[in-house]
Amino acid sequence: MKRVLFVDDEPRVLDGLKRMLYPLRNEWRMAFVTSGREALELLEQSDYEVLVTDLRMPEMSGVELLAKVVSRHPQVVRMVLSGTADQEIAVRSATLAHQYLVKPCDAATIRATVGRAFSLRVMLDDPALKQLISGLHNLPSVPSLYLRLMEVLRSLDVSPKEVAEVVSQDIGMTAKVLQMANSALFGIQRQITDPTQAVIYLGPEMVRQLVLVASAFSAFQPKSLRHFSIERLQIHSLAVGGLARRIAQSLELSPAALDYAFVGGLLHDVGKLLLACNYPERYDEAMRHASEEGVLDRIAEVQTFGTTHAEVGAYLLWLWALPDPITEIVLRHHEFPADPAAVYSPSVAVHVADALGNGGFDPDAVACLTAVGLGEKLAGWQRSSRETRLGRGSHVEAHPVCGR
Ligand SMILES: [Fe+2]
Ligand SMILES: [Fe+2]
Repeated sequence: MKRVLFVDDEPRVLDGLKRMLYPLRNEWRMAFVTSGREALELLEQSDYEVLVTDLRMPEMSGVELLAKVVSRHPQVVRMVLSGTADQEIAVRSATLAHQYLVKPCDAATIRATVGRAFSLRVMLDDPALKQLISGLHNLPSVPSLYLRLMEVLRSLDVSPKEVAEVVSQDIGMTAKVLQMANSALFGIQRQITDPTQAVIYLGPEMVRQLVLVASAFSAFQPKSLRHFSIERLQIHSLAVGGLARRIAQSLELSPAALDYAFVGGLLHDVGKLLLACNYPERYDEAMRHASEEGVLDRIAEVQTFGTTHAEVGAYLLWLWALPDPITEIVLRHHEFPADPAAVYSPSVAVHVADALGNGGFDPDAVACLTAVGLGEKLAGWQRSSRETRLGRGSHVEAHPVCGR
């Protein structure tokens, strides 16, 4: 049974929720409190799995409560149920909450949304992972430039130039965003050299995601390790992001799925950065073992940490409240779906791009792609991957690096 905690300063609203959610009493154990302070007390005392909070509250605001829950109870699923039209509050909570619901909201919507947010958490509910994460000292919060960009993007009539101006405030960030933009647009006639063009070609939403990716890479700067190179990982990530997007395109996925494939591809190995930053000696040793013994990186990681970079990376993105499809891509990037119907997805695009980027491909996956009629496309993707690695059409030279 899920334990769900509702917080709203208006008793009337809580009464309404109680009545509306009464039919769910056999599925959820629910508690209703009127302040952030009471909510934190309850969270200390017992294991709530989901928090649903209002934003505008006296004493402790919903944003403050969410931030406290992120640091004290990171495993709790965080949701907002608010009627606030205040943009700033909404923006600030967007990176703290996994889901955002607007009042009034019916029981079916609340149930479905809690269910969705909860299912990903269940996948990440692994004791070894939890222990590892709780020991991390370098777990950066959501970058401030990203928050500023979200604020700008909330206004409906924002121009590409205005978005570009925000990105340009950070030169290092601009360079990284342009580099990623060029890898996404592999094959267009010319290179993109200024942020305004990047916004025009990719759209402001994609640029926002790129800022987040670039921030993740700058947030983790592991000291130089002998058996792990952050530079090579960045090159690999760019190549996988770009290729995953092209694969998604050739699978005729929706525009949103193309974006997920690209961003998911860029971030798929972010867990490696997290491990290398927080446990440099142990990670270096694991990677030494992987390369000298010829075992997959993820197997060496399991032997050392009890979990892999896929789970660790997905957990970080879950904490950052990134869209669930991206977190799921990262979590599953080593798997090929057992169900042939699931092949047409951004997750598979990233899986295939990663496998090709590493120069290897699981024969079962080849058989599966062939069985669903994608055998011919695979040859084309292999060509694209080789071209990416040779640096044609992109200004980075990619190598197969991450032993997955
Ligand atoms: Fe990987
Ligand atoms: Fe990889």
